[in-house]
Amino acid sequence: MKTLMTSALPYANGPLHLGHLAGAYLPADIYARYKRLMGQEVLWVCGMDEHGAAITLRAKSEGISPQEIVDKYYALDKRCFEELGISFDYFHRTTAKLHHETSQDFFLKLAADDQFIVKSSEQYYDPEYKMFLADRYIKGTCPNCGHTEAFGDQCENCGKDLSPSELIDPVAVLSGAKPALKETKHWYFRLDKHEAWLKEWIGEGKLDGEQHHDAKAWKKHVVGQCMSWLDGGLQPRSITRDLDWGIPVPVEGAEGKVLYVWFDAPIGYISATKQWAKENGGDWEDWWKGEDSRLVHFIGKDNIVFHCIVFPSMLKAHGKYNLPVSVPANQFLNFEGDKFSKSRGWGIDLEGYLENFKEFPNHVDALRWALIRNLPEQQDADFTWDGFTEYHDKDLADKLGNFINRVTVLTHKYFGGSVPAHPGGEHNTAQTQVQSTVSSAVYKIGQDIDAYRFKDAATSFVELASFGNTYLQDAAPWTLYKANPDDPKIAETMFDCAQIAAALALTATPFIPFAAEKIRAVLNQIPANTGEWQLALDALANGQPLIPAGHILGEAGVLFPKIIDRKDDSRNQIIQRERDKMAVILAAKETELAEAGPSAADRPEAKPECTFDDFLKLDLRTATILTAEAVKKSSKLLHLTVDLGNEQRSVVSGIAKHFAPEEVIGKQVVCVTNLAPRKMAGVLSEAMILMAEDEAGKLVFVSPPEGFGNGWVVR
Ligand code: MF3
Ligand code: ZN
Repeated sequence: MKTLMTSALPYANGPLHLGHLAGAYLPADIYARYKRLMGQEVLWVCGMDEHGAAITLRAKSEGISPQEIVDKYYALDKRCFEELGISFDYFHRTTAKLHHETSQDFFLKLAADDQFIVKSSEQYYDPEYKMFLADRYIKGTCPNCGHTEAFGDQCENCGKDLSPSELIDPVAVLSGAKPALKETKHWYFRLDKHEAWLKEWIGEGKLDGEQHHDAKAWKKHVVGQCMSWLDGGLQPRSITRDLDWGIPVPVEGAEGKVLYVWFDAPIGYISATKQWAKENGGDWEDWWKGEDSRLVHFIGKDNIVFHCIVFPSMLKAHGKYNLPVSVPANQFLNFEGDKFSKSRGWGIDLEGYLENFKEFPNHVDALRWALIRNLPEQQDADFTWDGFTEYHDKDLADKLGNFINRVTVLTHKYFGGSVPAHPGGEHNTAQTQVQSTVSSAVYKIGQDIDAYRFKDAATSFVELASFGNTYLQDAAPWTLYKANPDDPKIAETMFDCAQIAAALALTATPFIPFAAEKIRAVLNQIPANTGEWQLALDALANGQPLIPAGHILGEAGVLFPKIIDRKDDSRNQIIQRERDKMAVILAAKETELAEAGPSAADRPEAKPECTFDDFLKLDLRTATILTAEAVKKSSKLLHLTVDLGNEQRSVVSGIAKHFAPEEVIGKQVVCVTNLAPRKMAGVLSEAMILMAEDEAGKLVFVSPPEGFGNGWVVR
């Protein structure tokens, strides 16, 4: 079986950030690299998504042509992917002539097979710009969540797919004009015809009565999203637009119309395969239609419906195409607790990372690793610089790098760098604990990758490195050496450690390919070849070593200099610069918030309902603070005396961080007077003072107006 892999074609309208990388590209890269190491055939295609309103609007805002925009981001994304080790087999683009032809042919085939209806209807039109307002050219209030900036194709606040006619109070994005209605003709793909088989296919994994894939192996959130769509019923979807940027609709009577970008973009996977085949002498059709070829789409969760419902229906309608056996969509990655936002400057894009971290040793693998350990596989995840630091220092430096370094140093010390023979026999570790641990780790890491459980795979990898360290520590060859330099246990230990090191170097490859190569170079191995993982599994199963006795190891040195390092703060400083940028953005946000006043959304959650009788139980009264002094032994408490009209009481209040004693003397307040008295820091408190607290934690007294008497009831 061979695997045709696709990763979502990025829009050519802006830079990619870490969240994109973690969503559709890095997991796919791990998968592709693993498959190649297993000697399994893969073809991984991607490219730029260069049509649609997202592009033309961006071009307009940058004051350049759509072609210039797509050229710019094509070059940028391609370079970033390359630098990050994203090992596509082909990276195409949808403005290519071959793609235009492929899409038009696809359209014509579906048209001939009666998969479309052509329909005229009234649609929003900008009377000033004289254009129809498709997708992002129109915005208004979301009917689903009330967000006032929802676009004509989607509300970015609640994620709901929309059509312009659903927007409340629509406005034209470019002119700001109130849109008029005007008649226009469009092609609609009869998605409704596909509902029945889709339900069976996604729900049960059955296609044309046969088992197509294991439906239970699909991620729950993917199936869930599809099922809720299917339950809502499928409608014909318009697949043409009145726009001047895109692929012309190839029929008469469609002048000025182009294919909807979501119709042509996934066909981009097919044209990319064709272009790859042209340049490499392959057979594109076999990849797409062959019986021994399986299709897997790597995407982010915002693309689920298109890849599980719409595109499969297009493929099925066209006929003969394979449908995906899995769509391992990821959820979203946030950045330091908030959504990535280009406009706010929140987050870091790929270009920015590559530039700002270029002095950081192993900068690409450090990033890949931090993302892999925290992939949003089943839930949204949060990227933080603390996490980045910890994954780097603990996993890569302390466990992996340290182990490799110790193995090479000790092998040099005791055996002149040459891996000693295992005293138990012919290079043989069979029956040993080490042999079986290494063997099952290599196997399990692979199985997890194969099942798209990349985080689990990475965990097992770290466990293997930990196992190496513990094994070496427990065997303590340095102690044995002191007692008897010829103790055979030393040779055994170093032989075993060389095997663990070799297993780590191999299994590191899909995750951290650059460092893996470095480690292999240290071990005096050539870069991992196609099929090498399978060879290793075979060797381990047969009790053969991954590194034979007599093999000369190089010297490692510090492979992953730590970020938190008392003697050298330079790496930490690179991160500190990023934190500083965040602080500036946060400060700006705070100022903005302060100016705008707090928003309703930030209010603490409402408490559960209580009865009026409950409320009446409280005795609330006006009072005046007579005396105030700090409480010894406490930095938080002030000791106050309050006048309640006919009595004075002692009150201990946790306001010392907010008010100096002299500030509060004479303040009029409201007290709860019937709480049971209690001692705080050794001082008796006989009432409580009401305070209001805002989102910044600022406290103010709840006070009656000045001159109001004491001891009166508040209700
Ligand atoms: N450009 C789209 C996005 O970034 C993804 C397109 S995927 C494809 O959300 F299948 F249409 F190519
Ligand atoms: Zn909404």
